[in-house]
Amino acid sequence: MSRTVGFVANNAARTMSTITPGSKIDPKELFVGSDLSERYVKYRPKLPVEHVKTIVELLGRRPEVWLDVGCGPGTSTQQIIGHTDKLVGIDVSDTQVAVANKTFQHPSLSFVQGSCEKLPAEDCSVDVITAVQAAHYFDLPAFFKEVGRTLKSKGVVSLICYPDPHFPTSPTLTSALDHINHTYLRPYFPDSRSHYFSTKYSNITLPFTQHHQHSLQIGLPISYPSLLDILSTWSGFQNLCDEREITLEQGVHVLDQEMAGFMTEE
Ligand SMILES: C[S@@+](CC[C@H](N)C(=O)[O-])C[C@H]1O[C@@H](n2cnc3c(N)ncnc32)[C@H](O)[C@@H]1O
Repeated sequence: MSRTVGFVANNAARTMSTITPGSKIDPKELFVGSDLSERYVKYRPKLPVEHVKTIVELLGRRPEVWLDVGCGPGTSTQQIIGHTDKLVGIDVSDTQVAVANKTFQHPSLSFVQGSCEKLPAEDCSVDVITAVQAAHYFDLPAFFKEVGRTLKSKGVVSLICYPDPHFPTSPTLTSALDHINHTYLRPYFPDSRSHYFSTKYSNITLPFTQHHQHSLQIGLPISYPSLLDILSTWSGFQNLCDEREITLEQGVHVLDQEMAGFMTEE
């Protein structure tokens, strides 16, 4: 499966327009709860190491400082260990950071609670900034301003968006999953998620002087039970369970039924 990756180097700041928010969902409150973070560690895909190596090649030197913003419980940050002298995972959610600290330890690695709008780094001190499956939750103009402030000259920022899971041998199941992803759960995600995530970031304008797009392969588990495991980590799913005051298991049953109903209608 392919995924789209945005790279930029250099830091000539310019403005970009932001979307008009229509939903009241605050991305900063979506990823709270150690249960969610533990499920992340178990079920979410990891950043392929080849992509980490591509970033280092693009930088053209060994990175001294690398920030992974919106790191969650370290799912992808762990893949960067060993490729930089200092690695800092940053996430707005206390519980994501607590689980990351408990799960992954290395002398070069730390996880801190912080926001993409105010990165915990000095001016011109960072070689690489990554955001894996996270930029669609950010206030992008504020984040890009911070990227411009903290990146060294000819630093690299990479916004990574995974492809939607799909079933090569079952187009019907793939459409049912698309229905859950982009229609059924849509009200339970912030507008920014629908706006940027559904296009896999192709509508994000990077306000920097060089811009590269890369597509790489990523392996995702493809069985139906493992798909339900992945769905149970989605913030929109968690939001649905909270709003309907149902348990995780009941929520999984709701999605299972919705997909079955969709496939019968097709
Ligand atoms: C879908 S998760 C991705 C986690 C991880 N990077 C991965 O690959 O599994 C998005 C993460 O972005 C974080 N996030 C959302 N808004 C943020 C912000 N303004 N600043 C920092 N982190 C933020 C959330 O708390 C959440 O952990």
